[in-house]
Amino acid sequence: MATRFEPTGPLSGSLRPPADKSISHRTALIAAMGEDVTEIEGYLDSADTRSTLDAVQALGAEVEGVSPSGIEPVIRIQGIGLRSARSTPIDVGNAGTLLRLLPGWLAGQPGGRWTLDGDGSIRRRPVDRIAAPLRRMGAQLSCREGRLPPLEVEAAPLQAIEYEMPIASAQVKSCLLFAALLAEGETWLREPARSRDHTERMLAAAGADVVWLRGGIAVRPAKRLEPSELAVPADFSSAAFFLVAALLVPGSEVTLEGVGNNPTRTGLLTILERMGAEVELEPVGERGGEPIGTLRVRASALCGTEVGGDEIPLAIDELPLVALAACFAEGETTIRDAAELRRKESDRVATTCAALEALGASVEAREDGIRIEGGGGLRGGTISSHGDHRIAMLGAVAGLASREGVTVEEMDAAAVSYPGFEADLASLARRRS
Ligand code: S3P
Repeated sequence: MATRFEPTGPLSGSLRPPADKSISHRTALIAAMGEDVTEIEGYLDSADTRSTLDAVQALGAEVEGVSPSGIEPVIRIQGIGLRSARSTPIDVGNAGTLLRLLPGWLAGQPGGRWTLDGDGSIRRRPVDRIAAPLRRMGAQLSCREGRLPPLEVEAAPLQAIEYEMPIASAQVKSCLLFAALLAEGETWLREPARSRDHTERMLAAAGADVVWLRGGIAVRPAKRLEPSELAVPADFSSAAFFLVAALLVPGSEVTLEGVGNNPTRTGLLTILERMGAEVELEPVGERGGEPIGTLRVRASALCGTEVGGDEIPLAIDELPLVALAACFAEGETTIRDAAELRRKESDRVATTCAALEALGASVEAREDGIRIEGGGGLRGGTISSHGDHRIAMLGAVAGLASREGVTVEEMDAAAVSYPGFEADLASLARRRS
């Protein structure tokens, strides 16, 4: 499905973006690991997070509050406990987070066998990053060509390990945290840079023995988990599209409410502020153990910047938007140390560069990032999302800020994380193409 996004006048108004995708996946998995009924307030209604509900149901959990037409404001999950997942094939759809997190829980079950598979994009996403440390713990796994799905997991007894993660990945870390709950001994994990910490927070709140020690996390096995009152804040990564749209469309002023602002997620704010953006974050409290706040943003003149090092994992899903903003910024912007971008729903170095180039930008794809020659804005044209939800939404924002408008092919990919995206964007633009 192709959708056209015309240049617009100023964006204005306020909205609450949908629930956080990362956190929603984790609430469903952790509720399923519990033994009682856990209520989850504000679970995200999207293709990816439905895959996780389907998976926990297949494993034996009961889920209430979900129908084909929508997910209710509160859903209930009757857990199966930490150690009684039923053997079943699992279709993860397009959800890389489910693909990487779930095997950690399954690998240490007392018995069973599972095959995890998904769509064409999932079949290109590496699983050796979780398979290698899980095997060191004693897990029995096999995958295609030694690194790709389908991934087969056979239950086996696990032992604790000390593991220096070669990449800063919250998915790998979360997978190993789950495995550590079922392993014998105390597991130690160290990351080369901080990545999102939602799993640690939620496990600790559910009674697991998770301790932050200088430079790492120590986890002890758990007899049971007691998750209670799980709630999901609005997704900073979804808010980011409106944030950048408002920065780029002259005269805009937009407010985004209830947005999760966990510092392991908000690297984009630091980057945009360095580029000269007028963005204000007002903390308003907590939801589900995560800080939330109100974001206010105004159209701003931007300058180029350098992005790299420890900043990358804190802004990993927003780097395509940094590249888009950089097209409108004075001077050059360089994103480096971001080879991980190539292993997302699409190769986001390639798909971001292809999109921005097709719209008239001067960009250079590098092995570990992107260089953008800014200042010219974007002419417009036609791009493909390549089935990647974040590239689809990037194209829409580019259209609003462009001189001639943008047609996005495969726009329906946005539903992976944000089914109502076009309507919400139109509500801020107050007119729709
Ligand atoms: C996610 C972690 C990030 C991110 C992905 C979601 C998560 O991946 O890109 O969209 O929910 O843990 P990595 O941890 O592999 O960098």
